[in-house]
Amino acid sequence: RMMKSKMPCRIDINRLNAPLLKIYESLIPAEEEKVKQKQLLTMLEKIVSKEWPNAKLFLYGSCANSFGVSKSDIDVCLAIEDEGIDKSEVLLKLAELLQSDNLQNVQALTRARVPIVKLMDPVTGISCDICINNVLAVINTKLLRDYSKIDVRLHQLAFIVKHWAKSRGVNATYQGTLSSYAYVLMCIHFLQQRIPAILPCLQVLETTYKVTVDDIECAYFDQVDSLVDFGAQNKECIAQLVWKFFNYWAYCHDYANSVISVRTGRILSKQDKDWTRRVGNDRHLICIEDPFETSHDLGRVVDRSSVRVLREEFERAAQIMQFDPNPCESLFEPY
Ligand code: CTP
Ligand code: MG
Repeated sequence: RMMKSKMPCRIDINRLNAPLLKIYESLIPAEEEKVKQKQLLTMLEKIVSKEWPNAKLFLYGSCANSFGVSKSDIDVCLAIEDEGIDKSEVLLKLAELLQSDNLQNVQALTRARVPIVKLMDPVTGISCDICINNVLAVINTKLLRDYSKIDVRLHQLAFIVKHWAKSRGVNATYQGTLSSYAYVLMCIHFLQQRIPAILPCLQVLETTYKVTVDDIECAYFDQVDSLVDFGAQNKECIAQLVWKFFNYWAYCHDYANSVISVRTGRILSKQDKDWTRRVGNDRHLICIEDPFETSHDLGRVVDRSSVRVLREEFERAAQIMQFDPNPCESLFEPY
């Protein structure tokens, strides 16, 4: 017989629901932030349309996918139809226009993987990145937003995971850890895998929305209002989900062989994706398939040393959720 007294005592996880929900609610941006974002976008539209009358501006990233916490920067995509444009030239021109319109800290980063112009609007205090013709990002933003409408537990889980990642310093792709986008996909995948499932796989349902971008067909079921009861059979609460999420990434994920795939709602094998060895800088040590750009592994930035950091942080979080007397503080302790 097992010696019960020697087992570490597991504290009732449900007691963490209320405090976790409180943290979640404190992260939700106020309505007036949205108003300021719109204000800035309108001003940018005016500036852009003088130079490029047919261009359009789209919000993408966390200001448009519903996973933006309070006081986030905004991401804007400038869509220009012209075939022969030189992105660097457009960015430099754009930077010049913004500068003369009194925007601050204007910087054109033409050599970045995704070239952008950065700026800060002194009126609203909002910082903003503008990229050119990154239409796939606009579409994956819609996909994430549509998932968020199905079950509020995704919103709750993703906010808590993002807040944890920022607090613990594991949300920096330039340091080999993961992007916010990757963390949200990890949350969606995790909720697709619950039994009973909390989220469906929108890309395997009937197609109600379809666009082709850069030769990639993006198709999925976007009539999500009809899916609001999808997860009702599953009664897991946020505290359980946060704990199991970290537990999954700490102890259950098969890092050597598995790829998580929101597109299929399944785990795929690295073998099938040919993600078994290092190619260039892509090491595939933690594999997260982009839902549309399926050759893109969002974990490709992760290297030998940062994968260790990540896994230790997942373990730390799982342990805290299970055994710490005060998880809601320890979990988000600055590193
Ligand atoms: N994106 C992408 N491919 C990546 C990284 C990002 O397509 N490898 C796009 C996604 O549309 C994502 C957006 O860029 O929504 C912004 O990415 P990121 O900064 O990671 O996420 P945010 O949601 O903006 O998070 P944060 O609140 O941290 O700014
Ligand atoms: Mg962002």
